[in-house]
Amino acid sequence: IHEPPHSSQSISLSLDSHALHNQFDELSAFSDSPHPSVTRVLYTDKDVLARRYVKNLMEIAGLSVREDAIGNIFGRWDGLEPELAAVATGSHIDAIPYSGKYDGVVGVLGAIEAINVLKRSGFKPRRSLEVILFTSEEPTRFGIGCLGSRLLSGSENLASALKTTTDSQNISFLDAARSAGYAKDIDDLSSVFLKKGAYSAFVELHIEQGPILEDEGISIGIVTAIAAPASLKVEFEGNGGHAGAVLMPNRNDAGLAAAELALAVEKHVLESGSIDTVGTVGILELHPGAINSIPSKSHIEIDTRDIDEERRNRVIEKIHQSAIKITKTRGVKLSEFSIINQDPPALSSEAVIKAVETATRELNLTSKLMISRAYHDSLFMARLSPTGMIFIPCYKGYSHKPEEFASIQDVANGVKVLASTLAKLSLQ
Ligand code: GLV
Ligand code: MN
Ligand code: MN
Ligand code: MN
Repeated sequence: IHEPPHSSQSISLSLDSHALHNQFDELSAFSDSPHPSVTRVLYTDKDVLARRYVKNLMEIAGLSVREDAIGNIFGRWDGLEPELAAVATGSHIDAIPYSGKYDGVVGVLGAIEAINVLKRSGFKPRRSLEVILFTSEEPTRFGIGCLGSRLLSGSENLASALKTTTDSQNISFLDAARSAGYAKDIDDLSSVFLKKGAYSAFVELHIEQGPILEDEGISIGIVTAIAAPASLKVEFEGNGGHAGAVLMPNRNDAGLAAAELALAVEKHVLESGSIDTVGTVGILELHPGAINSIPSKSHIEIDTRDIDEERRNRVIEKIHQSAIKITKTRGVKLSEFSIINQDPPALSSEAVIKAVETATRELNLTSKLMISRAYHDSLFMARLSPTGMIFIPCYKGYSHKPEEFASIQDVANGVKVLASTLAKLSLQ
């Protein structure tokens, strides 16, 4: 009689790196920008095709697939005690414009391969294991990051905001979701909420998106905390006018107001005195956007983060004060100053950290504890269950650009650590 292994240490992990490598290439072809860049925005045709590709892989892996009203996808492997809370893993496959093929994808394709690895080894999970593909971790289309996991975590604010949210083409969130086959016959998105404790643990595999592991030659990063992200939307309005005819003293240039605020963001961030405080103006749009017309409207979006939430909040307050000051000195109107999200940081669970540490040690891989400066779906899964993250090195720390790269060896190491961690957590 073949007895399945009952301790996670005795299992042998054999990975199909070749298949995994091909899957990265195949998935990256679902893109709206040319190779090697990847652009895959929520609910576009390419996103729908990529989702279908992942669901197919889940089915081939023998997982039972379920989708919720906004397209979070769950692939479940029933454990020996399926009534217990499951252990979950997963990440996202949406990709910001002109980015790469590893951000998020490592944690989805890698999770499915981790399941395959465990199945090949003959392992039988006690708790069920679930792979989750989260809807829209990136804020590209509707301006809010971690949309899927934020809603899973029970955000009433988001559930109600999504009823009226539109994209830059004025397509409503619900229409976009319906065009992708979701949100059928419903307006109320609270069906997506999961109960606290729905999972006994959650663990996400991701590229580091920073240079530390590669610089130090370390295979695995074990995340202890995720920095607190916030994003702001600001609009100024002036009178505009002819670029030749309106003399300088008579102008109230909304574009210069935005430029001045962008510099103020940098100043306030630097004033925090901590290297952990960061701020970025990644969107700056001028209206009407003609060389010979003084901008009458400007729109800027500001991303600011810190591992220290209060310090980050002080930066937000200073940015607000600067925006008000600029309206006075430039004679423009502050037609919008809104905080899109202002999230607290998340701490990893000791139990998950321990499971990852043990898995790494058993596999004879080097590791180090680190914080995540990027945000992840784990930020919100941590509200539902004990959570942790596994980082792998990526080339020069590049991310959110086409040069993003992780070697198949590093991906394979991450998948093995994930598989072993899932095995341990499923037996707890
Ligand atoms: C998500 O990609 C982030 O901006 O951290
Ligand atoms: Mn990203
Ligand atoms: Mn990501
Ligand atoms: Mn991210």
